[in-house]
Amino acid sequence: MSPLSKCLRSSWRVHVCFSRRHSSLITDLMENMDKRSAWDRFYTESSSTTSSFKNFEWFFGFDSVRDFLMPLLRSSSHPDSPVQVLDMGCGTSALGPSIYRHSPVSVHVTCADISPVAVQLMQEKTRLEAVRPSNPSSRLQFVELDCTQLDRRYSPNSLDLIVDKGTTDALLRSKEGKGKAVLVLQQCFRALQGSGSLLQFSDEDPDARLLWLESAALHHDVGVQEVGQLRGVCYFCYQVTPRTPAKC
Ligand SMILES: C[S@@+](CC[C@H](N)C(=O)[O-])C[C@H]1O[C@@H](n2cnc3c(N)ncnc32)[C@H](O)[C@@H]1O
Repeated sequence: MSPLSKCLRSSWRVHVCFSRRHSSLITDLMENMDKRSAWDRFYTESSSTTSSFKNFEWFFGFDSVRDFLMPLLRSSSHPDSPVQVLDMGCGTSALGPSIYRHSPVSVHVTCADISPVAVQLMQEKTRLEAVRPSNPSSRLQFVELDCTQLDRRYSPNSLDLIVDKGTTDALLRSKEGKGKAVLVLQQCFRALQGSGSLLQFSDEDPDARLLWLESAALHHDVGVQEVGQLRGVCYFCYQVTPRTPAKC
């Protein structure tokens, strides 16, 4: 069983009593993690099993990854402009809302997901909770967006930080998702500012992910740090930044 599948099954057990129906749901999801319909089904079923909707983290929450994120919250266009952050494939994670809440600098956080069900759940939760940001000029929004088409929403060099927690993993591990993972990466590079960063949080081993990133990200620097272990699986933070041309 792959780490993601292990994680899916154990995370799922936290929320629902495991049954044959849920087992078929997970099998369907694991093969089709690049498809909107599979995620819509997953988020619909998981939200219908509890009376009050709770955030669902595929692995690690904000507190475990904040030290990787917070130092990168700086705007590259102008010191006074808000930092433009995209949580790509946000699902129903509390990551984006937590960045909005805890960032001392002004941030415009967009949480984007291909699943309108996830987006609606998050919009509703945020409306009910009326979370206040540390910086009064920060903004938070949830949008339905296929991240293979970031160019429909973002002009080149318009984002300072793109966070991807488990989204590329999901694409790379589904039957027809590998091409989409490459497309998403290319779209991120187009949308990122010259001094911006893409952070991928993943359980994929550096031997495999670094090779994949380095072959797809020719004009970028790629680094990796260990985040920690969860349920016996080791997680990593991959940071991709555009390479600055060497001065003569
Ligand atoms: C493994 S889940 C991770 C969710 C969340 N980031 C977290 O850490 O809990 C992958 C997410 O990617 C979303 N997704 C899959 N393909 C996508 C695409 N092409 N564009 C945007 N989101 C996508 C799914 O709907 C799902 O919410």
